[in-house]
Amino acid sequence: MPDTTFGPQGWTPERLDPQDGKSFLITGGNAGTGFEATRILLRADAKVVMLNRSVERSEAAVARLKEEFGSDAEVSFIRMDLASFDSVREAAAAVLDIVPRIDALICNAAIAQVPSQKLTVDGHESMLATNHYGHFLLSGLLFERIEASQGRVVVVASLGYKMGIRTIQFDDMNWDANYHQNKTYSQSKLAQMMFAYELQDRLAAANSNVEVYVCHPGSSNTSLISSSGNLVTRIAFKLMSMSPLVQSAEQGAYPEVMCATEDGLEGRALYGPTGRSEWVGPVGKGTLEPYAYDKAVMERLWELSEKETGVDWTF
Ligand SMILES: NC(=O)c1ccc[n+]([C@@H]2O[C@H](COP(=O)([O-])OP(=O)(O)OC[C@H]3O[C@@H](n4cnc5c(N)ncnc54)[C@H](OP(=O)(O)O)[C@@H]3O)[C@@H](O)[C@H]2O)c1
Repeated sequence: MPDTTFGPQGWTPERLDPQDGKSFLITGGNAGTGFEATRILLRADAKVVMLNRSVERSEAAVARLKEEFGSDAEVSFIRMDLASFDSVREAAAAVLDIVPRIDALICNAAIAQVPSQKLTVDGHESMLATNHYGHFLLSGLLFERIEASQGRVVVVASLGYKMGIRTIQFDDMNWDANYHQNKTYSQSKLAQMMFAYELQDRLAAANSNVEVYVCHPGSSNTSLISSSGNLVTRIAFKLMSMSPLVQSAEQGAYPEVMCATEDGLEGRALYGPTGRSEWVGPVGKGTLEPYAYDKAVMERLWELSEKETGVDWTF
């Protein structure tokens, strides 16, 4: 049964109260759903600081947004490459210098379907490093500021978490033996979800007021596949994007904006489109498979992530 909490249209930005005085951080805000989420938040008068890899695309995004919302729109970016722990640390330090309040950190950026195994400067498989370790480190470094702001962490996941081995391959985290563009991507998104659900448990144990929500954009027409996928995957997605099984990037942004702003959401949940195959349609609470919150795996992944990133989470 589709979730009817927000009525037949599901959650839409019409539900947004004015967000003036609130500050949001979003990773990967220069393109796709991250750009559209930024637009929706700016339209509601929020302040948005994007944490982006490409300076050129970020400058263009800020220029476009200022053209749309006026030169005093509160939008800026800090350069950050999630695939480099040094870069994440530098960006987090810059955030702590210039962003006194964080109402939500939206972990939106990702790479997907990288055709062959690539290792980051820190020696990790590129999708696991960018999508999971980078966000784990960033969230840990900003946690105290988020907590002081009574803020949130929003993890943008993917239904792709179901399309792999449905657990974490601890004996070969870099997929040296069996790299596979889809399975390896799938594990990186499952890792992000496990991070969020384990963080919820740790926050509950510490009586923290920080909220953590998990969502996904369904199947949305963005540059995700065209920026990292191989030719066959790109052509397949291009053809699919002409069908009703793919929605706009703007609709894909609704779940993350909802998770950053809406009251009364559930922690152990996956929010996203609730229409056909949960790829498109009204936004609400979708299906969440129990292996995404397998406690033993989540705890082991948390310990490993702390060790690999060197972040010291204090609750
Ligand atoms: N589109 C879909 O159908 C779909 C489906 C399921 C899940 N998702 C999820 O939705 C989220 C947004 O994806 P999208 O579809 O909007 O993709 P997109 O259009 O490709 O945007 C991805 C963003 O992530 C940024 N990024 C990539 N690598 C980065 C790095 N190392 N450091 C910092 N930023 C980096 C990109 O910046 P650059 O400009 O520098 O490349 C870009 O701004 C992702 O978490 C993705 O897994 C998307």
